[in-house]
Amino acid sequence: METKWINSNEIEEGVRLLQAGEIIAMPTETVYGLAGDAMNDVAIRKIFEAKGRPSDNPLIVHIASIEQTSLFVDSIPPVAKRLMDAFWPGALTIILPSNGRASSLVTAGLDSIGLRMPNHPAALELIRKSGLGLAAPSANRSGRPSPTTAQHVADDLNGRIAGIVDGGPTGIGVESTVVDCTGDTVTILRPGGVTREEMEAVIGPVALDANLSNDEAAPRSPGMKYTHYAPTAPVFLVDGTREDLERVIEERKQAGLRIGALVFDENPTPAEVTYSLGTSMEVAAQRLYDALRRFDETDVDEIYVNTIEPVGVALAVYNRLYKAAGGKVVHPTKDA
Ligand code: TXA
Ligand code: MG
Repeated sequence: METKWINSNEIEEGVRLLQAGEIIAMPTETVYGLAGDAMNDVAIRKIFEAKGRPSDNPLIVHIASIEQTSLFVDSIPPVAKRLMDAFWPGALTIILPSNGRASSLVTAGLDSIGLRMPNHPAALELIRKSGLGLAAPSANRSGRPSPTTAQHVADDLNGRIAGIVDGGPTGIGVESTVVDCTGDTVTILRPGGVTREEMEAVIGPVALDANLSNDEAAPRSPGMKYTHYAPTAPVFLVDGTREDLERVIEERKQAGLRIGALVFDENPTPAEVTYSLGTSMEVAAQRLYDALRRFDETDVDEIYVNTIEPVGVALAVYNRLYKAAGGKVVHPTKDA
């Protein structure tokens, strides 16, 4: 299949493809999504196939107004309505009881459904002009870092999807926060662009799913159980100072390995390849997936990065790094 490159002033072409049951990549403010008609089994099957995504991992559905939620849910709990009013359009996916009208492939057979109104003009125009709710997981091959540019999408999915709408680099750089509003407590299943602190300022206490602090617990967000965001070379988190990081890098170099490093400043390291994630967590979120992807263009054997304090948007950055590392944490002071 030839993948059409669609400029953001050619949205009509994207609308036509979506209405024909095709799947296309679209920009959002978080990462690029791979969009298809949420009520069309054929389109949804194409999404799972193009990504190589396990069929037990449900998709989230993108809408363009709060009214459009009524296509997929019969009622909105008051706490969810307050989150919508405060954070939509934006990087917040809200899990609600499904009314069963989305393709059963979208919800992977669950009785709940994730909804989000993206804050991106091209995505909103695609939804409005097609008149469809758009199921859209991140537009990467399953397991790879999510795409933050149209070129990242092409690198993973060229020839496997009908089109890519190029909206330039995405603004936030990590995915939306996934929050479960089906029970008595509001629980974050996946940290993301909207922070726990921002939500608590609006609705009071918000819980973190046990899986986010204890990797042994059974994940409630099916997607969280798979290895994610991983470059080819193994990633290790270093629980220590910047000096500890450099010491670990020196040791591994002495063992004959080529080392990559990710750092939260602009200073060099002893590693063969160092990528800077900038000096703020907002910039780190924007740069993270591009940096992880770029390691695959190098010949490093191992990648090292310091742990960070998981508060605010750093909770999302830390969660993605922890997943990329497959949970491998080095404790240099303890281990020494
Ligand atoms: O920012 C984002 O959320 C991007 C852009 C394209 O909108 N989309 C995205 O989709 O990251 P995806 O499919 O890569 O991640 C959605 C996450 C997965 O971890 C999935 O398991 C979880 O949401 N999820 C979806 N439906 C769910 C449900 N009913 N209950 C619990 N978790 C659900
Ligand atoms: Mg994803």
